[in-house]
Amino acid sequence: MTSLLETPVPAAADDLTLRHGAARVLLANWTGGSTVPSRGLYPHQWSWDSAFIAIGLRHLSVRRAQRELESLLGAQWSDGRVPHIVFSPSVPLDAYFPSPDFWRSSTAGTGAGAPAGTETSGIVQPPVHALAAWLVHVSDPETSRSRGFLPRVYERLVAWHDYLTGSRDLGGGGLAAMVHPWEPGMDNSPCWDGPLQRVEPAVPGSYRRADLDHGQASERPTDLDYGRYVRLAADYRDSGYADVRGTHSFAVEDPCVNALLIVSEHALARIAEETGADPAPHRARAERLTAALVERLWSPADGMFLCRDLVGGELIAERSVAGLVPLIVPGLPQDIVDALLSTAEGRGFRLGEVPMAPSYDFEGHAFDPSRYWRGPAWFNTNWLLERGLRQYGRTRAADALRGAMLGAAGVSSFAEYVDPVTAEARGTRAFGWTAALTLDLLAASGPAGGDATLPTSNGARS
Ligand code: SER
Repeated sequence: MTSLLETPVPAAADDLTLRHGAARVLLANWTGGSTVPSRGLYPHQWSWDSAFIAIGLRHLSVRRAQRELESLLGAQWSDGRVPHIVFSPSVPLDAYFPSPDFWRSSTAGTGAGAPAGTETSGIVQPPVHALAAWLVHVSDPETSRSRGFLPRVYERLVAWHDYLTGSRDLGGGGLAAMVHPWEPGMDNSPCWDGPLQRVEPAVPGSYRRADLDHGQASERPTDLDYGRYVRLAADYRDSGYADVRGTHSFAVEDPCVNALLIVSEHALARIAEETGADPAPHRARAERLTAALVERLWSPADGMFLCRDLVGGELIAERSVAGLVPLIVPGLPQDIVDALLSTAEGRGFRLGEVPMAPSYDFEGHAFDPSRYWRGPAWFNTNWLLERGLRQYGRTRAADALRGAMLGAAGVSSFAEYVDPVTAEARGTRAFGWTAALTLDLLAASGPAGGDATLPTSNGARS
């Protein structure tokens, strides 16, 4: 019998092999106007996936990366929301659940301004888009200018952020709230276990999960989770997708969502400068959001940010990687940065000791190394941490994380997520943002990878 120590560790692919492998995934997942996260499990266009995908796709084709973002923004509702899924009419209804006939955006969403000619979901995902648009621009400013890329997307991105900071300020404290566990993108994070207790699950058998045709049940959310997801989505749809304070049975403020909003608001300031608009309102909004993030979600006792339950009113005592992602926010107070770094390297997340940070505290009561957002390591959150480490001067730690991510991407065949200790593949394979962010890390030739273009609050480049 081979002992664990003798088990051969798969050799990491060299950079060229990795680059080719990642490019093959993105080419295979390209549908002609956008990229599916995965051909089987997620056969439509997803919002934050498309943003991360554009960040990698720009290294293959800047035009495709622009198209990726523009096709998503083309499905924006007139109230400003960018839907979390844009459905492809050529995909059979039973290939994914909930399908367009569940969301019924073009009829149920009329009051909120859903487009008439495109079917979408009615919920949102984290706002990575302005950051992605800026990074796509700086990778080839000439092509961007000649095609008028930034002027075409600027107003839509502004409307998107207006929606999040306006209609979605359900807590009244200046942060964007999420009204469904699919919205922060970390569907079955233990952070939602408490708030979801209040939600009566939909009747089992009234719908069919399509995800289990493609994924192992032990690596996906449970049936009980799904019952609640379906109930919340149906209730929101039946309200006409109305955002009314005090009416949502699930409403939370999430530090990852709001950190991405802040960084994207800084990106909007750069986009405004480039297009001749006034950057000052964007800088001011980024500062207000940063102050609100610290005020409402920082937990000194945990040394990290927590989520806030807006129905109960309190911070949620669960430590997920969402609470470390604000390391990407420029200009945080030094004591917060120090605490975040020490929490990231401590027993809960073991950054520097394990290949990649888990999605949930190793020592948390709900930790599961295989089940979706309850422990596995994801490439998008680790890519964000890598940027955060660089921004705050932890170059060696960032380099180590970059190397570990590239290794894990290669040996896992660009898995959706991996076991955070062994880096074994979990979820689906040939996953869009894993391949895209691999390309982005490979393109980074030094600290901050050549696109260190967002200003910190003291004017330095992050
Ligand atoms: N992540 C969800 C799913 O698993 C939807 O956004 O289908």
